[in-house]
Amino acid sequence: MLRKCLFPVAGYGTRFLPATKAMPKEMLPLVNKPLVQYGVEESIEAGLGEIGFVTGRGKRAIEDHFDTNFELEHQISGTGKEKYLDSVRKVIDEANFSYTRQGEMRGLGDAILQGQRLVGDEPFGVVLADDLCLNDGLGVLGQMVQLYKQFRCSIVAVEEVPREHIHKFGVIAGNEIKPGLHQVTDMVEKPAAEDAPSNLAIIGRYILTPDIFDLIRETPPGKNGEVQITDALLTQAQRGCVLAYNFKGRRFDCGSVDGFIEATNFVYENVYLPKQAELEKK
Ligand code: UTP
Repeated sequence: MLRKCLFPVAGYGTRFLPATKAMPKEMLPLVNKPLVQYGVEESIEAGLGEIGFVTGRGKRAIEDHFDTNFELEHQISGTGKEKYLDSVRKVIDEANFSYTRQGEMRGLGDAILQGQRLVGDEPFGVVLADDLCLNDGLGVLGQMVQLYKQFRCSIVAVEEVPREHIHKFGVIAGNEIKPGLHQVTDMVEKPAAEDAPSNLAIIGRYILTPDIFDLIRETPPGKNGEVQITDALLTQAQRGCVLAYNFKGRRFDCGSVDGFIEATNFVYENVYLPKQAELEKK
């Protein structure tokens, strides 16, 4: 039943200016592959091949990336360079892409609400591509899909973060129902360290049930006039059930310059070089 995944990509990526002046931050390359492609591959692996982008102005490069480029393909057809397009061709074959726009940047909750046009009345995944999640085994979204099949309710991915960083995240409180899995009892967006209900921070992977759309509509704008998904999720947790899953794997905050550099170094050593060695054998 889970088939669809939303990618809210309307943000400006101001932390990477001027690189992101004319180019979406999701197209910044982690070595040789744009950030957003890692997220889309994770979604396909999880079985969510219906990909919906919530875009904004200046994001057309994302649409072009997930489409055929006939001129380029013709140019390199039959040469040794064709293999460098393998990964994106595979993604284009295995997924379907649709797009809608968030007219105004009114927060992540609002961006997800705009995605209702693409998702309809089904449960769906959400990937924030600037959180890069890597795992040796099944990817983070795949792990969450397995949990969804068991519990059939909204799930947020969380990780333990040091107190000094907790003010940058949505933070949960909850009852641990099994190791690494909490039933959420409270959620606070970007709390001061002394007010944080735990050290479990929400990161950019969600499975949401479609009743979330009405809850977002009910949610008044919070900090900075933005509609926070955290507020709608708290209502969902209070009326029903939301789970917080401490995932297996590693997350890099590629929305920040430091996290992006750390991810680049990691991917170069652990993903790019081994893959390159494999390609050279072809
Ligand atoms: P961020 O808070 O990282 O903001 O958004 P940003 O604008 O992308 O980056 P900076 O802070 O200016 O550098 C988190 C995610 O939510 C999406 C963003 O695209 C990003 O994936 N988002 C946020 C929207 O799609 N719409 C919004 O109104 C807000």
